[in-house]
Amino acid sequence: MPWLEEGWRHVWLPYAQMQTAPLPLPAVRTEGSRIHLADGRVLVDGIASWWTACHGYNHPHIVQAVTAQLQAMPHVMFGGLAHEPAYRLATRLAALMPGSLNRVFYSDSGSVAVEVAIKMAVQARLNQGERGRTKVLAFLGGYHGDTFGTMAICDPEEGMHSLFAGLLQEHPVIALPRDEASIAAFELFLEEHAGSLAAIIVEPLVQGAGGMVFHAPEVLQRLRRAADHYGLVLIFDEIFTGFGRTGTMFAFEQAGVVPDIVTLSKALTGGTCPLAVTIATDELFAAFLSDSPDTSLMHGPTFMANALGCAAANAGLDLFEREPRLEQVAAISAQLARELAPCRELPGVRDVRVLGAIGVVQLERIENPAALRMALVEKGVWVRPFRDILYLTPALTIAAEELSALTGAIFSVLAAA
Ligand SMILES: Cc1ncc(COP(=O)(O)O)c(C=O)c1O
Repeated sequence: MPWLEEGWRHVWLPYAQMQTAPLPLPAVRTEGSRIHLADGRVLVDGIASWWTACHGYNHPHIVQAVTAQLQAMPHVMFGGLAHEPAYRLATRLAALMPGSLNRVFYSDSGSVAVEVAIKMAVQARLNQGERGRTKVLAFLGGYHGDTFGTMAICDPEEGMHSLFAGLLQEHPVIALPRDEASIAAFELFLEEHAGSLAAIIVEPLVQGAGGMVFHAPEVLQRLRRAADHYGLVLIFDEIFTGFGRTGTMFAFEQAGVVPDIVTLSKALTGGTCPLAVTIATDELFAAFLSDSPDTSLMHGPTFMANALGCAAANAGLDLFEREPRLEQVAAISAQLARELAPCRELPGVRDVRVLGAIGVVQLERIENPAALRMALVEKGVWVRPFRDILYLTPALTIAAEELSALTGAIFSVLAAA
């Protein structure tokens, strides 16, 4: 395949040591939960392309909506021009959100959606004439993106804080208040430092890229109480957890609390094209209203509200309305719990956990994730081990036998190791 060998000299892969990285598998076609490779092999996909393809690949309703939009108008700038897909999507997202989460700001990736959330929280304070509240409280194990602003609020190791020391803004990153000691430390931290904070940010219920670590809904309730007490903006980053992944449409619903800002991306377009949103409350939005341009939110990505992305997202929301996604998640959850449980007995397995359509097998360590990945490919499945975990976050439409192929492959590869 000449395109592969020639292009290999020119591409730069994500999170990869290019000197030793193996040649990626050439993919030529997708459908449902399957990825077709150029050599004719077909893999059952266990991760839905970094958690995006929640309706399965090439869902005909999304394909039809995007094709029609492509023919009518692929994109126009959002500054000064309006289009129905974006305005309709904003209205629908606001209707899905609780409380006064009514204002939708569009961008093109999760990292940028989080950057915008930080900017909103900090600038709201500045607009109200309060200087010095510029920090965002974030949590160990958290992940919010790879841009410089978001790296600064990731787990220090994930965000490579020491490598980029001096370049990153300094934000406090402390333990999530989930047990007696961390709750005490959290409360003490706020007592001493709340005056420098604009916001608290968390991935509700699951720290995804940090290793699929779950926490109880009570943690979110505690964060809400603290944010109210100290007048902080509470940001829930639902870029991974949004759209049914944890068993409810949004993870925060399980805690019965409402944040001040929500960020969404990934499954928003069903994995079709890049789109992200930062949704703010009416109260936060009001902090930007005045007679002066100086208090405007100064952000505007070129491809914000891309019409193809908005068409895909509207079609995705239709599917959530028409098809029984949350019931499918409940069935996936039960099957994952049942079929991954035997992994507990295997040597080297530290933990097996399931929440919604997320199944995790945590090992003592993974020496060679690439070799493990290839062993799974030999079994006909696409799973991407990282850190010390093997995880499944399949399309919410995956068939029971396809899910069994994934869990079975994980068990047999670990048993053989
Ligand atoms: C919770 C969370 N926030 C933000 C991001 C960053 O999104 P993107 O890769 O689209 O910039 C991710 C990506 O994995 C994520 O899981």
